Amino acid sequence: MIEILRSTHQFLIFRQNLPECAVGFVPTMGNLHSGHLSLVKESLENNDWTILSIFVNPKQFGPNEDFERYPRTLGRDVSLVRDLFREGGFEEKGKKIAFFCPEKVSEVYPPDYNTTISVGNELTGRLCGKSRPGHFDGVTTVVFQLFSLVKPNKAYFGQKDYQQYLVIKRMISDLNLNIQIIPMPIKRDKDGLALSSRNQFLTGDQKTEALVLPKILEKIKKTIKENNWLTAQPIIKEIISDYKRSHSWDYLEVLDSTDLKEPHEESHTVVIAGALKVGETRLIDNKLVELNYVR
Ligand code: PAF
Repeated sequence: MIEILRSTHQFLIFRQNLPECAVGFVPTMGNLHSGHLSLVKESLENNDWTILSIFVNPKQFGPNEDFERYPRTLGRDVSLVRDLFREGGFEEKGKKIAFFCPEKVSEVYPPDYNTTISVGNELTGRLCGKSRPGHFDGVTTVVFQLFSLVKPNKAYFGQKDYQQYLVIKRMISDLNLNIQIIPMPIKRDKDGLALSSRNQFLTGDQKTEALVLPKILEKIKKTIKENNWLTAQPIIKEIISDYKRSHSWDYLEVLDSTDLKEPHEESHTVVIAGALKVGETRLIDNKLVELNYVR
């Protein structure tokens, strides 16, 4: 059973009428790829109802960013999910799924809307937050709004947006929202490029250039795994400064995976995070790796 709800009013009525059951939520901006579908599948397997939202949220795009050209492919998205639902035998398992895809921005932000949810600068002022001021306020504002409407038990987020995952986890914890956040592994294409709705903007040559991103992350990860952390640090510095000489990097950093600070004595795991501009397209990716203090 698949329901498609195009207005907040319709959605609220639908939600009020849901019996007490486990609700999994997958918030997206559409243009679904197999990364999104892995979230939907995980939610279908672990909940009675799965709610998938599709909303290109203007508040998280800066004035010169790609809000206008962000791909909107609702028909295709619905049919991909329908196929997953059928092929996974979810109907027979008694699972149910609904799409919440507000037709207009005013469905989510009525004209008199005047609230911003903002997680502190310590987490949001780094990495993507540094080069995209206001981006995370836009994300937390819409995610909070969607959480209030959907009232999920669990919410599924891809780890490609690792900083987004940490920011939303912080918001859930600070605001005592009774929602379990489930991080899901990054999906990659056969060449190793992390799947993203923005990959389709890349020409053949740009795709080749984009592959430098997963390659350098892997190289740094290997260096960390094969060396004591003390030995690894100067090698990594050199690798990063070498790579920064070519290509248009927004950032390329190795940070503590829990607070995004410079790795410190208590750091156990780091996130190697990169953002690369290829033509007009900005791509992000990351890898997590445990530090090795004894070898
Ligand atoms: O990750 C995304 O696609 C978006 O940032 C989200 C979480 C759907 C909020 O608009």
